[in-house]
Amino acid sequence: MEGINFNQIGVSFKGSGSYVPDQILTNQKISQKVDTSNEWIQSRTGISERRISSVKDNVNEMGYQAALTAIEMANWDINTIDLIILATSTPHDLFGSAPSIQAKLGAANAVAFDLTAACSGFLFALITASKFLKGGSFKRAVVIGADQLSSFVDWNDRRSCILFGDGAGALAIEATNEFDNFIGFDMRTDGGRGSFLNLPSKNKKDSIVDEIDFLSGGFSEIQMNGQEVYKFAVKEVPLILEKLLKKMKYNSDQVDWLLLHQANQRILDSVGERLKIPKEKILSNLEKYGNTSAATIPLMMDEAVRDYRIKQNDIIATSGFGAGLSWGAALIKWG
Ligand code: UT7
Repeated sequence: MEGINFNQIGVSFKGSGSYVPDQILTNQKISQKVDTSNEWIQSRTGISERRISSVKDNVNEMGYQAALTAIEMANWDINTIDLIILATSTPHDLFGSAPSIQAKLGAANAVAFDLTAACSGFLFALITASKFLKGGSFKRAVVIGADQLSSFVDWNDRRSCILFGDGAGALAIEATNEFDNFIGFDMRTDGGRGSFLNLPSKNKKDSIVDEIDFLSGGFSEIQMNGQEVYKFAVKEVPLILEKLLKKMKYNSDQVDWLLLHQANQRILDSVGERLKIPKEKILSNLEKYGNTSAATIPLMMDEAVRDYRIKQNDIIATSGFGAGLSWGAALIKWG
C-alpha cells in the first residue's frame, strides 16, 4: 500500500474480537497429570481453568476468528483493511501466519505480517500498527494476538504447566485526523535477563553430504524461572506505568481500567496496589483462561467491551510483559 494521508494525527479504536478453543482443562484435571491441587493453583495464581487447542484451533484459525469478530464490530468493508499484524510466538507456519489469516478474511488489500515478542507481543504490535496509522501510511489496521502455548508446555513440569492456555484476541483500529485515542506508550527489552523464560530451538546435528553438517529444526519445551519472572513483573510493570502516566500528565485516579497481561492474579493485585488503582478497576479473566501469552490483553479487552464494562472514552492503562525479557505500556482511550 502507498501512503494515504499525511494529515492523520491519531488513532481510534473501532472494534474488538476474540476466540477461545472449546476444550476446558480444569485444575482438577491437571492434578491427574502432575502433583498439584486446585487449592494450590488457585491461591498462587488465581487460575481455575484454561482452554486447550484441538486440531482445528491452530493459531491461524483462532487469529482469523478473533479478527473477523473485531472487523464485524467495526463494521468495515473487508477490502478497506490496509494492515494486519499478528503477534504470536507459536505461528502455524514459521514463515508467518498473518498471510493465511489475510487470505481467509479475503482482505486482499492488506499487507500482513507476524511480530514476535512473547507476552508483550500484542502491545508491541498495537504500538507498531498505531505508528503506521499516525504516520499516514495506512488507514485501517487489525492487530491480533494469538498463541497456542499448549503445544510447547512441558506437561510434566508442575511449576509451569498450570499457567498457560490457548486463545486469540484482536482490535480493529483506524487513523483519524480529528483526535488521538492512543495517548502514549513506552517499550523496554532486557535480553540480559532472557534466560528466565525461553522456548528455545532444539536442533539435531545431521549431515547433508560428506563433510557438510546441518541442524534439523525444532523446538524444545517452555523453560521458566517462575520466581524471577514474578519479581521482574512486580518491579518493572508499576515503574513503566508510573513513568508513562507522569509523561502523559495523567493521575492514576483518572484511569478507568488497569488491563495487564494476565499472568498471575497476585501480579495484577500487586501492580494495582503500587499504582493505587482499586481492585474493581483491575480487569481479570485469568480464572477462566490462564496465561494465553500474546492473546491475554485483547481477549480481556473484548470481554469487557462486549459486557459494557469498558465504555466509550474510558481511559485504559495497559501493560504487557514477559519473555525477552520484554515489557511495555500504553495509555489509550476506548472509542
Ligand atoms: O507471561 C509471563 C509468564 N510467566 C509468569 O508469569 C510466571 C510468574 N511467576 C509465577 O506466577 C509464580 O512464580 C508461580 C505461580 C510460577 C509459582 O508460584 P510461587 O509462589 O513463586 O511458587 P515457588 O516456585 O516459590 O514454589 C513454592 C513451592 C515449591 O515447593 P517447596 O520447594 O517450597 O517445597 C514448589 O515445588 O510450591 C511448589 N510448587 C507447586 N506445588 C503444587 C510449584 N508448583 C507447584 C504446583 N503445585 N503446581
